[in-house]
Amino acid sequence: MARHPETDAIRTQTERTAEKEHSTPLFLTSSFVYDTAEDMGAAFADDSLDVNIYSRFSNPTVDEFISKICILEKAEDGIATGTGMAAVFATFMTFLSKGDHIISASAVFGSTHTILTKYLPKWGIDYSYFNMNEPDVIESLIRPETRILYVETPSNPGLDIIDIKFLAVICKKHNILLVVDNCFATPAVQQPILFGADLVIHSATKFIDGQGRVLGGVVVGRKELIQPMYLFVRNTGPSMSPFNAWVLTKSLETLFLRMERHADSALKISQALTGHPEISWVKYPFLPSHPQYDIAKKQMTNGGGIVTFDLKGGVGAGRKFLNNLKMLSMTNNLGDSRSIASHPASTTHSKLTEAERQEVGITPGLIRISIGLEHPDDILEDIIQALVFHAASA
Ligand SMILES: Cc1ncc(COP(=O)(O)O)c(C=O)c1O
Repeated sequence: MARHPETDAIRTQTERTAEKEHSTPLFLTSSFVYDTAEDMGAAFADDSLDVNIYSRFSNPTVDEFISKICILEKAEDGIATGTGMAAVFATFMTFLSKGDHIISASAVFGSTHTILTKYLPKWGIDYSYFNMNEPDVIESLIRPETRILYVETPSNPGLDIIDIKFLAVICKKHNILLVVDNCFATPAVQQPILFGADLVIHSATKFIDGQGRVLGGVVVGRKELIQPMYLFVRNTGPSMSPFNAWVLTKSLETLFLRMERHADSALKISQALTGHPEISWVKYPFLPSHPQYDIAKKQMTNGGGIVTFDLKGGVGAGRKFLNNLKMLSMTNNLGDSRSIASHPASTTHSKLTEAERQEVGITPGLIRISIGLEHPDDILEDIIQALVFHAASA
C-alpha cells in the first residue's frame, strides 16, 4: 500500500548523520568541502551533478523541504526561494523573454500584479488580464507569443476559484505553461498537478509555515521545467535560507492536521456569520452560496482557512470593525495559528482605484479573516462583538 501523504510530510527526512539525531538536522553552512581537488573540479564542471557546492545552489535542509513539497504536490522536482514573490518572479524570468505574452487572472496578489503590470512591460513582455468569473474569454486572449497562463485558486483576497482541469485543457491545446499559485489551499487541500497544472507555486510564508515566523517560496513541477529554474536561482541568488527551510520542513509535519482544523473552524464561522444584520454576504469555498462551490468541491478536499465577508457600512465600518477587535490580530499576514483580520480597501489595496478594486472583487466593506487555531467559539465571539458598531463609536 502506498504511504499516505500525512505520513510522508512527517517521515521524509535527510539521511540520518553519524550523530543519530531523531529530529531533522539543520545544515547551517554557506559552503561544502571536498576530499580532493579532482572532486572539487568535477563538482564545478557539471551543473546537473547532484553534489552540494554552496548554499545559494543547494543545501540538504532546503532539499528536504523541497522533497516534501514535491511528494505532497505529486511533482518530480522543485526549487525553493527566499520569499513567495521570489518564486513568482523566478518563474516569470525563467520562462518569459522579450516579445512574449502572459495571460493572468486579474485577481492575483498585489505584488504579482505589480510584476505583471510594472516590471514585465519594461522588458518588452506583455500581459492580458481576465476575470476569474469569466473563464470562457481566456482562449480569445491567446496569441502566438503567449507562454504562460497564471492563476491563484482560491485567489487572494477575493476567494475566487477556477477550474484547473478546464485551464489545463486550453493550455495543452495551445502549448502554454499552466502556472498555479496554490498558496491559499496548500498541498494538504489541493494538488493542481493532478488536474494538469505544469508548475505550482507557494508562498511558504503562509499556511506552510503556519505560525507567522519565516518567509519562503517554492516552485514544483516536471524535471525539465525545474532545471532552468534551478539555474536561474543558482545564478541570480533568490535562494532559500537553510534556517528558514528547517523551520518550514518541521512545519510540514503538522500541515495536514492544521489545515483540517483551520477549515473546520472556517466553515463553522462562515455559517454562523451568514445572515448577520451588519453583513451583506459571506464567502467561503465550501459554503454552497460560493459562486464556484461546485468547482471547489471537485478540486479541494476542504475549504481552507480564509473567510471573507462584506460589511454593509463600507470603508468606515471596515475600520471600526478592526478597531473593535479584542483578540484577532490586525496584520496583513495570513495562514497563522493566530486568527487575523484585514480590511483590504483601507490597507493592502488602498492604492488601487475603486474600479480596479471592483474588478478583483474588493468591495469597500470587504473583511478578510484568516481563521487561526484558537477555539472556533472564541474566534466567532470576537468577530460578533466587533460587529456592534454603535457601541464602539459612542
Ligand atoms: C497568493 C499569494 N502569493 C504570493 C504571495 C507572496 O508571498 P511572500 O510574501 O512570501 O513573498 C502572497 C503573500 O501574501 C500570497 O498571498
